Amino acid sequence: MARLAVLASGNGSNFQALAEALRADGGHEAALLVCDRPGAFALERAARLGIPARLVRYAGRPREDAEAEIAAALEDADVDLVALAGFMRLLGPSLVERWEGRMVNVHPALLPAYPGTRSIERAWEAGDAELGVTVHFVDRGMDTGRIIGQARVPRGETLEATEEAVHRAEHALYPRIVLDLLDGIPGAEAPRRT
Ligand code: GAR
Repeated sequence: MARLAVLASGNGSNFQALAEALRADGGHEAALLVCDRPGAFALERAARLGIPARLVRYAGRPREDAEAEIAAALEDADVDLVALAGFMRLLGPSLVERWEGRMVNVHPALLPAYPGTRSIERAWEAGDAELGVTVHFVDRGMDTGRIIGQARVPRGETLEATEEAVHRAEHALYPRIVLDLLDGIPGAEAPRRT
């Protein structure tokens, strides 16, 4: 049994997909949500799912202070793996180094194409016939860490339909990879699956 923390800034649909997949699997626990934006829907989702949530404010203080609070929350919750799910901040070196190999991110593009923001829209506007999603380890760059897995998504009829398809692909790929990583944490093998 391993423990997962999720960092999210907004809607939290990937957080919910991860939490529900872990619950359905039964072998590991979604132990904590960390959110940097007051009022984010991710916080509401955590309340509904009964998962402890911690709001860490960045406004009005140095980034290092907010990150020290995140670091302490992760240690307090005794987590084994950290999943960024729409956490729209670049993390500083101390957190990234502490969690090297144990911190992953989902990105709505076939990296290394379209890092950063508005990725689906930019791929759509470029006329790409194929879009996709990437799960990767987090390093100090923006969406640059080692790629763990990708899923391809054909361009849809409209931007909205394509966005929905990309999000569905994230909700399928990310939990699958996170469950595999949790299973691989030494001493954390899930006591199940016949
Ligand atoms: C997701 O599409 C995620 O891939 C993206 O933000 C969205 C969050 O949605 N992340 C990035 O673009 C990171 N560079 P969600 O809050 O509903 O999970």
